Amino acid sequence: MEKKFYISTAIPYVNAPAHIGHALEFVQADVIARWHRRKGEDTFFLTGTDEHGAKIAKAASQQNLPPQKFVDGIAEQFQELARALNISNTDFIRTTDQKRHWPSVEVVWKELQKKGDLYEKEYEGLYCVGCEAFITQKDLADGKCKIHGTEPEHIKERNWFFRLSKYESQIREALEKDILRIVPETRKREMLSFISEGLQDVSFSRPRKDLAWGIPVPGDDTQTIYVWADALVNYLSVLEYPDGKKFKKYWPADIHVVGKDILRFHATIWPGILFALNLPLPRVIFVHGFINVGGEKMSKSLGNTVDPFQLIEEYGADAVRYFLLREIPSAEDGDFTEEKFQERYNADLANGLGNLVARVLKLVLNAQPPIPKSALTPGFQKIIDKNKRACDKAIEEFRFNEALVFIWNVIRYCDRYIERERPWEKHERQEKRIGNLLFAIQEIARLVASFLPETSQKILQQLQTNTSQPLFPRKET
Ligand code: MSP
Repeated sequence: MEKKFYISTAIPYVNAPAHIGHALEFVQADVIARWHRRKGEDTFFLTGTDEHGAKIAKAASQQNLPPQKFVDGIAEQFQELARALNISNTDFIRTTDQKRHWPSVEVVWKELQKKGDLYEKEYEGLYCVGCEAFITQKDLADGKCKIHGTEPEHIKERNWFFRLSKYESQIREALEKDILRIVPETRKREMLSFISEGLQDVSFSRPRKDLAWGIPVPGDDTQTIYVWADALVNYLSVLEYPDGKKFKKYWPADIHVVGKDILRFHATIWPGILFALNLPLPRVIFVHGFINVGGEKMSKSLGNTVDPFQLIEEYGADAVRYFLLREIPSAEDGDFTEEKFQERYNADLANGLGNLVARVLKLVLNAQPPIPKSALTPGFQKIIDKNKRACDKAIEEFRFNEALVFIWNVIRYCDRYIERERPWEKHERQEKRIGNLLFAIQEIARLVASFLPETSQKILQQLQTNTSQPLFPRKET
């Protein structure tokens, strides 16, 4: 039987339109998904939208729209973004989907209750609507949330609580022993140090009178299920947990891709829920950093977002994918500026990959030589093999920016080879030289396939039909 592979992104809130921070996560997960699919694995790639909670209810009311209507519009935009970026997701789950998502959430709730892991308690504390989380003084600077720069709400209410503390040692052990592996290692240490301060039980519901936009607590319609207890279950509900065939086939998830701000939920609450349900834990959580603008996180709340649709329209999906994967170190923060984008575009895509393909195709346009099965010169083949291996290893270790460097090594090698060998000149080795280049371009097309799917196809097609069209027209700055 084919090996299965299950990967997910976080599901973005639909309080505001998507920005390129969301695009980064889509694209990183897509590279992994495509790469596993190319290895022949039966790949399930999930993304979706997180549509309940205070933040969204507030955004809808600010627009004077009924919440459902409001979320329908923005969820559609996120789906549109996935399409525009050529994301190869197998499914898209929406937490407002009462047929597909709600039943699993209700089953999870009832299971937790059966287990004795839910109890009622009067709660008093701070709540950040931006984070959709109960926070403490430690999360504040000058009385404001460190991430959102907004003042938290003071809340005093009766809630259902989840006994997360009960699973503290099991969770710690799972992280320490990499049963649930957190990549990069620095984030794992961060989580272990967070857990070492003690895991508190978490509020899993809000009073319905204060927050009606969400899934009602089964058997207690005065309460709404807390948005994270609802959202995390998306990874199961899409597989039709508990009885679905897909659930039996694909669970546990192989990789959850998430941003650093939400690792805490994925590395504590989520394994806690799964332990309570007696389900195996996901194998890996890959944590990426933020796209910043001038050192600050790009976010709607800070008003510094960059619209991915505009960039895609102007430069094409692959150019946007390339920038995000090459310029932002996969597990760290990186800055977005239009200048950097143009620089990368012109240097690496127009003058680099695009120019090489055009040059080689020009050489073969009339000759129509067949593409050899391997490079005709062993030294040439060695360079390709070496970088291919390094590229694969980098993808496996989530170092996408480095993987691209290895591919671009091959491109640069070809450029230098052309300068040195002058394959346009009549020479007894001319055929060999062109053959090497033809083979290399085909290999480059395969190497970039997970990163730049459209470009990869175009190159292969141009090779087949011996036609040449610019892949990345140069942009004047
Ligand atoms: N709804 C929750 C996730 C629930 S998963 C069960 C959420 N939504 S979000 O819209 O705020 O963020 C969605 C993802 O996008 C997160 O992984 C988050 O880290 C990521 N990003 C949001 N802004 C980002 C940047 N500026 N840069 C990179 N990624 C960012 O959290």
